[in-house]
Amino acid sequence: MHAITVEDKQLVLSEVPDPEAGDGEVVIDVTAAGVNRADVSQRQGLYPPPPGAPPYPGLECAGVISAVGPGVTDRHVGERVSALLSGGGYAEKVAVPAGQLLPVPAGLSLTEAAALPEVACTVWSNVVDRDRLRKGRTLLVHGGGSGIGTFAIQLGKALGASVIATARAGKHEALRALGADLVIDYTTEDFVSATRDFNGKGADVILDIVGAKYLSRNIDALAPDGRLTVIGMQGGRKAELDLGQLMAKRGSVSSTSLRARPPADKARIVAAVTRDVWPLVEAGAIKPVINGTMPLAQAAEAHALMESSDHLGKILLTP
Ligand SMILES: NC(=O)c1ccc[n+]([C@@H]2O[C@H](COP(=O)([O-])OP(=O)(O)OC[C@H]3O[C@@H](n4cnc5c(N)ncnc54)[C@H](OP(=O)(O)O)[C@@H]3O)[C@@H](O)[C@H]2O)c1
Repeated sequence: MHAITVEDKQLVLSEVPDPEAGDGEVVIDVTAAGVNRADVSQRQGLYPPPPGAPPYPGLECAGVISAVGPGVTDRHVGERVSALLSGGGYAEKVAVPAGQLLPVPAGLSLTEAAALPEVACTVWSNVVDRDRLRKGRTLLVHGGGSGIGTFAIQLGKALGASVIATARAGKHEALRALGADLVIDYTTEDFVSATRDFNGKGADVILDIVGAKYLSRNIDALAPDGRLTVIGMQGGRKAELDLGQLMAKRGSVSSTSLRARPPADKARIVAAVTRDVWPLVEAGAIKPVINGTMPLAQAAEAHALMESSDHLGKILLTP
């Protein structure tokens, strides 16, 4: 089969052996795969695949099952699925544990379904499972125009929360159309005062992709008893934490990585997303936001676009 391999930090379309379905796995013939910021870090040599994962980039896909491994009794060849992967999505075929398969939500094409698994599982596991966002609370999403951000805005609104997002000005109109109640241009405005002015107390939940550069200001922007979860380090990994500042708000700070979670944990998240989030997608309350689709052979161009940050939502690759 063809897959994208990483050679000297470049993405190359290569001929590689077909994957086989191991115990508890299926093989998917990939219709489309999502591009994620983590794939850029992997290409740059900063984020190696975890042990046992396919060496090729790609954390999500959708397609059709073409082989079923030993021990898998509830899946069949020809079934249309989407999947949360530990790697290997940039390929014509990928093997994945059956517990990481999701159905294709009714009303979506296979290509559209490829835009959802990584963002849905990441956002749900942090904002809902961990940080208990619900009706009446306020969510602040940094990077509102990212794949993660466009999903988080819609999920927050679907849950009945108020949603604030940060993004460059050119993305504001699109983020308001997704439901954001307030959009802040982080290049010219102070998101701390804008967030406090919005509801008089700050954000109950903050989903942050910036990391070190925003740690102190994020705590300033938290409401009493607020929860900050850091899932990205685009603004650095080391910062000083003022425990007094955090304690005064009874705040909490946490951080997670979806890719590093054990398979059983991923299967739990995938099952919960299928149960709680897919109905919102099928009802039209959450739509995949797709910037564009490119052939697999243009993976390098897709990474260049992602690094420019000029995209909105997801970039997809089609083998
Ligand atoms: N920990 C996990 O499990 C996990 C899982 C998935 C993703 N992530 C992380 O989530 C982030 C988003 O991933 P993605 O694939 O959705 O990325 P993406 O689509 O490439 O989006 C990244 C966005 O970051 C925005 N940005 C850059 N600096 C910013 C700042 N100072 N304030 C606000 N926004 C800023 C850019 O938007 P503008 O044009 O508005 O600047 C850009 O659109 C990445 O950091 C990724 O590593 C973590």
